[in-house]
Amino acid sequence: MTTVIKNGTIVTHDLTYEADILVEGNRIAEIGPGLGGDEEIDATGCYVMPGGIDPHTHLEMPFMGTYSADDFESGTRAALAGGTTMVVDFALPSPGQGLLDALKMWDNKSTRAHCDYSFHMAVTWWGEQVFEEMEAVVRDRGINSFKHFMAYKGALMVQDDEMYASFKRLSELGGIALVHAENGDVVADLSAQLLAEGNTGPEGHAYSRPPQVEGEATNRAIMIADMAGVPLYVVHVSCEESHEAIRRARQQGKRVWGEPLIQHLTLDESEYFNQDWDHAARRVMSPPFRNRQHQASLWAGLQAGSLSVVATDHCAFTTEQKRTGVGDFTKIPNGTGGLEDRLPMLWTHGVATGRLTPNEFVAVTSTNIAKILNCYPRKGAVLVGADADLVVFDPEAEKTISAGTQQSAIDYNVFEGQRVKGLPRHVLSRGKLAYSDGAIRAEEGHGTFVPRPPKGSVNQALSSWKALTAPRPVERSGIPASGV
Ligand code: URP
Ligand code: ZN
Ligand code: ZN
Ligand code: ZN
Repeated sequence: MTTVIKNGTIVTHDLTYEADILVEGNRIAEIGPGLGGDEEIDATGCYVMPGGIDPHTHLEMPFMGTYSADDFESGTRAALAGGTTMVVDFALPSPGQGLLDALKMWDNKSTRAHCDYSFHMAVTWWGEQVFEEMEAVVRDRGINSFKHFMAYKGALMVQDDEMYASFKRLSELGGIALVHAENGDVVADLSAQLLAEGNTGPEGHAYSRPPQVEGEATNRAIMIADMAGVPLYVVHVSCEESHEAIRRARQQGKRVWGEPLIQHLTLDESEYFNQDWDHAARRVMSPPFRNRQHQASLWAGLQAGSLSVVATDHCAFTTEQKRTGVGDFTKIPNGTGGLEDRLPMLWTHGVATGRLTPNEFVAVTSTNIAKILNCYPRKGAVLVGADADLVVFDPEAEKTISAGTQQSAIDYNVFEGQRVKGLPRHVLSRGKLAYSDGAIRAEEGHGTFVPRPPKGSVNQALSSWKALTAPRPVERSGIPASGV
């Protein structure tokens, strides 16, 4: 059985050209003019792009006393409906739990996935067992990226000494370090103070996490990663302070990447001052949405290349779950959705406005992260031999985003009412038609785990540089006798 995508314009991170794509089994078999196949998908008037990769999701995540409502079933359905064909989720060990044990739990959660997926491993505590198991996670499980939470004190947060030890271990193993960069100690103190002063509503969440807590932590993580000799990826960069630290580091030749979210690019802090408690609480996430100056900084970073990837941090809680925090904003489960909306929102606010070219759109939604996470060109590419994860994207199609028509299991959408232009028309997941003209076609369990080997080219370059510049003793001819 072969499928051919005909009459479309292929858009990759570096090229735009007209050609058909022949798909055989899971892979792209041929690219060129006038191809035929058993089945045809007409892409007239459409762009054909590599499927989106969302490197930051929390599906069925145990967090703040509950579980995020979208699991791998509904979450990957939402992904496909929005043109995303691979998600990377976080395996989170509970305190004292081994990494391999936690991975088994995430293996079980992911069996119903409709699209391909991978995992980042989180380092949520430190000890001999974690140090030892990191090697097996990298070598035997094909996971090269490890996340560190610098916030959520008393829960997921790790201390600087633990982070430094983990970064050094990753440097040896050829992995990359990820950080949620917010100063958790300051956030905890500000939160207590705000509550004591009667600031109990969702706006208190925004006040408790000013840009300074993010800028400070980002800079600290960058410096610690540099000393440990490990590449660093900063998730959910929301503000100029954090972006500035990343921009400066990159200009100094440090191996650092920054990931803004579609939510921070398009929604602002006024959401938290909405009169409706539910409206505000549904938008509580960390870091919080910022003002227009910060948004402009993030857009400029994508244009300039100082920020590399647009993700969602999809972590969806129902209104009922959010209401746990009535009277105390610190109890509102942190997280927002976005999997189905990332590509249409970024096209509408990025490409249609002229902030991004279509090629830059592909780079920041798919190709850059495939390279960073070392699964390129199997993913993130339109090349012969690559997985046929493809989106036939209609730049003229329009819709109004609404919870009533979304795949996500929650009862609202943070983008409710937004008009978007530019929508996926057909989506292929490893060669299979997974979404077509508004309907999900992918089977549950079709998704497979994507292993990602360590020691990618950036790791190799960084270790060459670190070896060259490592401290070494000065060879001296005449050493004076020690004075007594
Ligand atoms: O508020 C957020 N971002 N929730 C998900 C967990 C995290 O910090 O990424
Ligand atoms: Zn986070
Ligand atoms: Zn997250
Ligand atoms: Zn299903």
